[in-house]
Amino acid sequence: MQGTAIAQPNIALIKYWGKRDIERNLPAVGSISITLHELNTRMHVKFDDALAADVLSVNDVPDTKMLPRLTTCLDRVAGPDRPRARIASTCNFPIAAGLASSASSFAALTVAAAEAAGKALKVDELASLAGRASGSAARSLLGGFVELVNVGDDIACHTLCDADAWPLSVVVAITASGPKAVGSTEAMEISRKTSPFYASWIEQQEQDLDTARAAIATRDFATLAVIAEYNCLKMHSIMWASRPPMVYWNAATMRCLQTVRKLQGQGVGVFFTIDAGPQVKAVCLPEHATTVEAALRATDGVVDIMMTGLGEGARLEHCE
Ligand code: DP6
Repeated sequence: MQGTAIAQPNIALIKYWGKRDIERNLPAVGSISITLHELNTRMHVKFDDALAADVLSVNDVPDTKMLPRLTTCLDRVAGPDRPRARIASTCNFPIAAGLASSASSFAALTVAAAEAAGKALKVDELASLAGRASGSAARSLLGGFVELVNVGDDIACHTLCDADAWPLSVVVAITASGPKAVGSTEAMEISRKTSPFYASWIEQQEQDLDTARAAIATRDFATLAVIAEYNCLKMHSIMWASRPPMVYWNAATMRCLQTVRKLQGQGVGVFFTIDAGPQVKAVCLPEHATTVEAALRATDGVVDIMMTGLGEGARLEHCE
């Protein structure tokens, strides 16, 4: 009747932006991500017949804001007639600030809930359930470089390359803390309905996926760097050209990009990517990680830095 799972966030190198089916939360495009190592979310789910409603604590503080989404996810995994649950979530990094906390949360929740419900589910079944809760969550089920693909009226995920087969580093430059103004679910819909660039984004995505997949297969950092930055900037261009416009960047975000460009000019193996928030994720070769960290730390407006390698997918934590 209980289960605990741990999952790490993932950062998309080829982004998911836009939905083809809102009801089922199906992405309009495939995506490729890297699962991180040091950042994590731990979810404990305990079904309890005595409870009248689900209860949630986040980092030991009662929370009702996130609860409806978690309840819906539990209903999908365990069925709506399930007993109510006590859910305890702990997260070692800022929540809802563009660091993919929903990805690690829903990946961990799906795995923990399946265990608590006594269901042995395959990766694709877990991906389908996690993806219904949050599109990017399905990718955190697996480690290393992960591709999410659309299959019929569902999704599937597979590993392109294990974390230790190409051990890149990620330096996260935090330029602002606190939750984002517009959630990505809503922002994607505004983009789909109003951005003049949305259609060409969808049209070109397959090409970007092909390029990134080939770069990962051959460990071609330079090609991966160019395609990831291109894909990221295209995604933000969609948002900037939406009505209302959505600009997640702040002045320090831009300064971090300039720092990365300067490092690239000095021959440092690094590239940037940015999601629906102002933080900059600098993906780099491990031998350049301390140089990248020092340069971003010295960038005006950076309030904190997190460093991580690539890690494994969501897994159960077996307690005594
Ligand atoms: C910019 O997975 O948070 O990080 O499915 O609506 O929950 P929902 O969206 P979410 O969106 C992630 C958007 C992104 C790009 C990416 O991770 O691929």
